[in-house]
Amino acid sequence: MYGSRIAGTGSSVPDRILSNADLERIVSTSDEWIVTRTGISERRIAADGETTSDLAERAGRRALEAAGVDPIDVNLVLVSTVTPDMFFPSTGCLLQDRLGALHAAAFDLSAACSGFVYGLSVADAYLRAGVMRNILVIGAETLSKVVDWKDRTTCVLFADGAGAALMQRTTGESRVLSTHLYADGSRGGQLIIPGGGSRHPISQKVVDENLAKIKMANGNEVFKTAVRAMEEAAVAALKANGVEVSDIDLLVPHQANARIINATAQRLGLPKERIVMNIDRFGNTSAASIPIALDGAVRAGRLKPGDLLLLVAFGGGLTWGSALIRW
Ligand code: UT7
Repeated sequence: MYGSRIAGTGSSVPDRILSNADLERIVSTSDEWIVTRTGISERRIAADGETTSDLAERAGRRALEAAGVDPIDVNLVLVSTVTPDMFFPSTGCLLQDRLGALHAAAFDLSAACSGFVYGLSVADAYLRAGVMRNILVIGAETLSKVVDWKDRTTCVLFADGAGAALMQRTTGESRVLSTHLYADGSRGGQLIIPGGGSRHPISQKVVDENLAKIKMANGNEVFKTAVRAMEEAAVAALKANGVEVSDIDLLVPHQANARIINATAQRLGLPKERIVMNIDRFGNTSAASIPIALDGAVRAGRLKPGDLLLLVAFGGGLTWGSALIRW
C-alpha cells in the first residue's frame, strides 16, 4: 500500500525584522499589549520588491536539498498562499519555472492559514493513489502587502515567510497516517480581503476604502472559534488512528496567537515541551506558519524516526484541519 512521507523540509523568511517597538511608531499600540495578547515580539517583513515566490523559491530549494531530490523528478509544485505574486500565472507556475521542475504540474491552493495542511492532504492523496512520486508543497505569504498598516487590530499580527515540504511516495512505516479537513464558509466574513477580486475589482473606491486589505470582523470571536476548531481537528486525528494524546511526541500548530496555542494544548492535555512555538519571532505567517515551525523543529532535532507528529491549522474561509504523521 502506497503512502506519503515528508522527505525533507525547508523554510525562508525575509531579513527585515519589524519589532513591537517599531509598531509603536506606526499605530497606537504597545509592546506590552502585543506580547501579552498575542505572544509576538517581532516578525519578518519582505523588502520592497521581495515577493511571495522569492520566499517560496528559497524554502522549496531547501526542502529539495534536504530530501536529496532533483527538481526534474518533482511531479507537482503546489503552493498554498493567499498572497500570490499575481492572480495568474499561479505562484506554483512561477516556481515550476524558477526551480527547473520541468516535468511538474503546478497550481496554487487558497485555504488561508490552513493552506499547508490542505496542501499536504492533497499531496498525500495523489501519492497514496500512486499517480505521483514527488510533490513539493509550499506555504508562502507576504501578508505585509495586504495588511492595513493603519489597523492596529490586524497589523500587529500578520507577517511574511515561506515553508516547504518535499513529499514522497512510500511503502514504509514513516508516513502520513491521516488528514482531516473542515470548512465553514458561512463565517468567512470574519477574516476577509473583500476587494481586488471580481466582486470589487480594483478601483479608486477600493483603494480609498482599503478594501484590498485584511479585515478581521471580531478578533475575539475568531480566537474562540480557533481554539474549538483546532481541538476538534486534533481529536478527529487521534480517534481515527486509535491513539491517545499521550502518544503525541510533537504538536506543530498554526501560529496565530500564543494564547490560542496554549488554550488548545490545555484542552487537549498536551504538555508545553511537546509543542512547537515560534510566534514570538515570526508572528502569523498564515499558510507558511506550520511549515516554518516544522522546519525549525526538524533542524533542531526535535523529531526522530517513529515519532508521532500532529499538525493542526485554523484560518480564513473559515477553514481548519489536522494531519497525523508517523515520522
Ligand atoms: O490566523 C488565524 C486567524 N487569526 C486569528 O486566529 C486571530 C484571533 N484573534 C486573536 O488573536 C485576538 O482576538 C487578538 C490578538 C486579535 C485580540 O486579542 P483580544 O484579547 O481578543 O482583544 P480584543 O479584540 O478583545 O481587544 C481588547 C482591547 C480593545 O479595546 P477596548 O475595546 O477594550 O477598549 C481593542 O481596541 O484591545 C484593543 N486593541 C489594541 N490595543 C493596543 C486591539 N488591538 C490593539 C493593539 N494595541 N494592537
